[in-house]
Amino acid sequence: MIGILIVLCIFTLTYFLGYYIYCNYFRAEHVPYELLKSKRVIITGASRGIGEQFAYEYAKHGTCLILASRQLKDLEPVAQQCRTLGCQQVECVEFDAGKVRKRVKNGMVLICIAVQHF
Ligand SMILES: NC(=O)c1ccc[n+]([C@@H]2O[C@H](COP(=O)([O-])OP(=O)(O)OC[C@H]3O[C@@H](n4cnc5c(N)ncnc54)[C@H](OP(=O)(O)O)[C@@H]3O)[C@@H](O)[C@H]2O)c1
Repeated sequence: MIGILIVLCIFTLTYFLGYYIYCNYFRAEHVPYELLKSKRVIITGASRGIGEQFAYEYAKHGTCLILASRQLKDLEPVAQQCRTLGCQQVECVEFDAGKVRKRVKNGMVLICIAVQHF
């Protein structure tokens, strides 16, 4: 009987300790969707794959978007779809993250465009 009680106590303590650690160190804060409307988001690699899907998800919540990739022509259809989904402000920017020397400059350019346009 005592053994069962001890096991039960250890189990309960472990459970609450684990829950405490999870809540304080690992649980991501929920961002209310309304907040996304007032944000400006830069997405590099937005012409296809996961970047494209991110663009559509943000667009649904009315976020202002800067879409970037090396091929401007591939971004236009994505931008159009974003507008259809409810994004009012979307800009396409040619951006090459692979050019190491220009990366910081190009990154700053993206930020400046985001600030200037929206
Ligand atoms: N798909 C998966 O299952 C998977 C799994 C794990 C990790 N990943 C990683 O997640 C990332 C995205 O993968 P994905 O499959 O969704 O996309 P993807 O088909 O690889 O497309 C990459 C996107 O990034 C752009 N891009 C490529 N090189 C670039 C550069 N130098 N500068 C700026 N933009 C560039 C491409 O457009 P442009 O060609 O026009 O520049 C495109 O929009 C990749 O890094 C991939 O390694 C993917």
